[in-house]
Amino acid sequence: MRSFAGRDILSLKGFERHEYYRVFEIADRLAPIARNRTKSDLLKDKTLVTAFYQPSTRTRLAHEAAMLRLGGSVTGFSDARMTRAGDYYQESIKDTVHMLEYYGDVIVMRHFQQGAPAEAARWASVPVINAGDGWGEHPTQVLTDMYTIHQEKGRLDGLHFLLVGDMRMRTMHSMSYAMSQFDIEATYISPPEMSLTDDFKKELDALNLRYREVEHIKDAIADADVIYMEPVVQPDYTKARDEREGDVGLTPANYQVTNKLMRKAKPDSIILHSLPRMDELLPEVDGTRHARYWEEAFNGVVMRMALLALVLGATE
Ligand code: CP
Repeated sequence: MRSFAGRDILSLKGFERHEYYRVFEIADRLAPIARNRTKSDLLKDKTLVTAFYQPSTRTRLAHEAAMLRLGGSVTGFSDARMTRAGDYYQESIKDTVHMLEYYGDVIVMRHFQQGAPAEAARWASVPVINAGDGWGEHPTQVLTDMYTIHQEKGRLDGLHFLLVGDMRMRTMHSMSYAMSQFDIEATYISPPEMSLTDDFKKELDALNLRYREVEHIKDAIADADVIYMEPVVQPDYTKARDEREGDVGLTPANYQVTNKLMRKAKPDSIILHSLPRMDELLPEVDGTRHARYWEEAFNGVVMRMALLALVLGATE
């Protein structure tokens, strides 16, 4: 198996099946630290640098919480406008990461440009973790999601995933690569203007992913073991900020999960949503046996603990 020590986590394309299980194993080992709200000294000599060029609640804070749980330190920025990359100088990624690599031992980057974390990794002498790049990928979120599904279902092989929402989303790309490593059947449901691109479908075909596309969630809900959601009322992920202007509209029923819809679902089907949500997942579903997004949120810290421990060489 390829070593994780010193490795960048940029994409799930090429992330191999046994590597998922390795990451899950480390996550299982470290989970009690987070569950018991305690700390360890595993990374006590290490510092995490967060470089967030786009807003985030979960991804940045989960990485920070993970580092703190493992006894490490955290520095960084959550608003690039307060750095030289976001003012008059528009400092390049190359020059910025040549600075950041001296401030810590691992860089977690979110950026509005697809490929920006990969560009950072070209210049950084420390590992770079992609925390979401434009419409590109969101590997740490999907590792969290696969870990959650594996925990809840006890397996990944043999499951049917229903993916609902905007297929341009970075999570949907990473999830598609992840599904291809397992015996998973996928059904995609999205508005036509947010559907899988022809180029991406060619990639999925090359990966032998078994999938279909349907128009309305009600036509596929009965088949699903896992319902994986993203909004269709979305900001533009290629912008540093996309403020809400006026009425953004409502989610059509085709892409919305309600209690009424879930009566047609398998009794043991589970719903994941990386959040934030709009009206595609109604709060009335939160109290049902199907909801797993709060477990997913907790696992977001555990998964980042595992990834930090692995790429910093604290566990092999
Ligand atoms: N799921 C997710 O990436 O959330 P944030 O944008 O809050 O980090």
